[in-house]
Amino acid sequence: MKAIILVGGEGTRLRPLTYTVVKSMVPVVNKPFIEHVILRLAEHGINEIVLAMGYKPDSIFEYFRNNSEPNIKLSYSLEEKPLGTAGAVKRAGSQVKETFFVLNGDVYTDIDYTDMLNFHRNNKAKATIALTRVEDPTKFGVVETDQNGRVQRFIEKPSWDKVTSHWINAGIYILEPDVLNYIPEGEFYMFERAVFPEMLEKGEPVYAYASDAYWIDMGTPEKYHQLNCNILGGNCVSPLHSGDKIVIDSSSKVHPTARITPPVIIGGGCVIEEGVELKGPVVLGKGCLIKKGAVIENSLLWDNVTVGENAFIINSILASGVNINDKARLEGQTLNREPGPATDKN
Ligand code: GTP
Repeated sequence: MKAIILVGGEGTRLRPLTYTVVKSMVPVVNKPFIEHVILRLAEHGINEIVLAMGYKPDSIFEYFRNNSEPNIKLSYSLEEKPLGTAGAVKRAGSQVKETFFVLNGDVYTDIDYTDMLNFHRNNKAKATIALTRVEDPTKFGVVETDQNGRVQRFIEKPSWDKVTSHWINAGIYILEPDVLNYIPEGEFYMFERAVFPEMLEKGEPVYAYASDAYWIDMGTPEKYHQLNCNILGGNCVSPLHSGDKIVIDSSSKVHPTARITPPVIIGGGCVIEEGVELKGPVVLGKGCLIKKGAVIENSLLWDNVTVGENAFIINSILASGVNINDKARLEGQTLNREPGPATDKN
């Protein structure tokens, strides 16, 4: 079965991290985020993946050119200008002849895709939208249904006095190919604001599959950090990591006096000097140097990060190549060596 994953957005909310790495490629427990998503789909037999790309596609091409999965058929659809969620699917799905999935490329979930597909088929739906429950629905698209799950109404970002439901659009859809007829070719078009409301108006069977499975939109530094911690802590599953342990790549050197409290992952070629303390959840990418006496707690360090002697880092994210001075104290920081758009490059 086919899935189109939308990975063409600029990821502005995840800045400054996305100044150097596109959102779908940011490392989650040391593997590109999108790889976790693709392997989860493959576990449910959804192994024909189309990546709908626009903004900075090169690193995605390059990664999968060198890391192809034997059981996954990966293809690409490239937009010259952003086409929006639906416009991108129209372009990527022009040859689709069967029921297919669409995923926002920044969502991670434990949802049972197989059960969702059964729900879609049992209801003879033309479109099925996965719903997830959130505490604060005012920033999201709320979806109202009848007791059989048939969608009645969409309310985009309701004010609190208009909140009638805490179930929101989770950014995961199952569509029949003729839904593509609702989308104009080559135009910017959105599912949430245009396609689904238009289908409702026409009386089409649009259903919602409500699920309390793990779900996160990792599109902000806080949520991105949370996703890493959740996978590390075993609060959600990933085909690429099983939680709550210490994993140290054999090419890394850890001084015997270093104290490591799980969950911690240390990538290849790292050096952890005398008296260092790593208090999980902590992830170190490849080639990190953690100098004497430094303490790192609840933080994510990408590749080639250097942390100076006796520095203290807590609740922070440090992108590749960041250098932290001796004795520095960092709390709740997200740092990239590239400070902004002037140095924005792929
Ligand atoms: P922000 O700028 O932080 O809002 O991020 P975004 O635009 O990347 O994400 P948003 O939440 O708005 O979009 C949801 C998903 O759709 C993300 O995975 C985006 O990559 C993707 N997306 C958004 N717009 C487009 C588009 O025009 N084309 C494609 N192919 N994907 C898109």
